[in-house]
Amino acid sequence: MSSYQSLDPAQIPLPEWHPYMIGSIIPRPVAWVTTMDSKGRFNLAPFSYFGAFSSKPPVVGFSPSTSARTSQPKDTHHNLLEVPECVINLVPYALAARMNITTGEYERGINEIERAGLETLPSEVVRPPRIVGSPVHLEAKLRQIISLGENPGAGQLVLVEVVRMHLAQHILDEKGLPDPRKMDVIARLGAFWYARITPEVIFWMKQPRNPAEVLAWQELPRDIRESRVFTAAEIGHLLAFRPAWAELLTQLPPPSDPDTLHKEMRKLLPHQAAEAWELYRKSLQPA
Ligand SMILES: Cc1cc2nc3c(=O)[nH]c(=O)nc-3n(C[C@H](O)[C@H](O)[C@H](O)COP(=O)(O)O)c2cc1C
Repeated sequence: MSSYQSLDPAQIPLPEWHPYMIGSIIPRPVAWVTTMDSKGRFNLAPFSYFGAFSSKPPVVGFSPSTSARTSQPKDTHHNLLEVPECVINLVPYALAARMNITTGEYERGINEIERAGLETLPSEVVRPPRIVGSPVHLEAKLRQIISLGENPGAGQLVLVEVVRMHLAQHILDEKGLPDPRKMDVIARLGAFWYARITPEVIFWMKQPRNPAEVLAWQELPRDIRESRVFTAAEIGHLLAFRPAWAELLTQLPPPSDPDTLHKEMRKLLPHQAAEAWELYRKSLQPA
């Protein structure tokens, strides 16, 4: 696990370097962006150099690069200079192949929305429309474009401020918040790989707000730190839950049969770390 291939981007030309970038920084959500030019023509294109950077103000960014094929800015970039508004549509699995169709470098003015047979809804604040079937629409206004270079492949980082968020009713939980299990969105991986966010692949992990809720590595009993049974992830789950009796951990004698005990404990992970620790404590009680 400590052997790495190390690369110097300065020594590697763009066509060979790009696959390392898109293949290693994963998973990336896809911003499927509608824009409009000064003649009122709409454009739709996907961008996976995409992220959220601020909650208040709500600022998100995506990065259309200077085209490696034409050395020109992408239509999305052009359009934002003419009409500084867009809608970012998140991409559900049901529309993944349609999204893929809209990535073609069509002539400026070609409407990818029509070509892909997509339906739209009018936006409330901005002029570019929303894509029907997308679980989340972010209506946004341009704040800033940060040019990261002039060469082909150089990102033109677009920072936009969200002025309206629309959430499809079917993705909401009982509190009205988006439920990731219901969204079925895709994420881009390397090459032509994607991930589909379904209930089986997601997990729940509460953030410890208070350092007193977690154990320090030094407090973990040696048999657990050096366990032949637990995975690194499982040890992490034990570390992230501090039992009320944690001070005893360093005082108790080691278990007589750690492998059997650890196998029982791991059946309770990741969600029942408290119960797993309880097993540990019980096994150490004098008979
Ligand atoms: C899933 C996916 C993600 C993409 N992400 C980016 C990206 O982050 N930046 C980029 O410049 N091009 C990206 N592309 C390629 C653009 O979608 C493509 O260049 C498109 O033609 C740009 O459209 P436009 O000229 O209408 O703006 C991506 C393509 C796909 C399929």
